[in-house]
Amino acid sequence: MTFVKACALSELEDDTPKRVELAGTPVSVVRTEGEVFAINDICSHANVSLSEGEVEDCMIECWLHGSSFDLRTGKPSGLPATRPVPVYPVKIEGDDVLVSVTQES
Ligand code: FES
Repeated sequence: MTFVKACALSELEDDTPKRVELAGTPVSVVRTEGEVFAINDICSHANVSLSEGEVEDCMIECWLHGSSFDLRTGKPSGLPATRPVPVYPVKIEGDDVLVSVTQES
């Protein structure tokens, strides 16, 4: 599993997703509830950027049709999305947020 730097921890605001591209994969990095999560930035329902949605209760909401995805598992909470979105392991080293997109979990 290869971790690469996604961004600096200090540039993440709580509940404000940050879109980055890692090895060609769009990723939304989210700091919430004292933790940092990385989830694929594309909704599993249609080609919509999840980082433009709102974060609440460890879920990120797709702004287009309202499905929310669990930042820990990628599972949708309800329709219209039925498939999970990939989530990725995160490591914090100093002020660096490191994400591995090579092995989806
Ligand atoms: S595009 Fe995300 S729920 Fe429809």
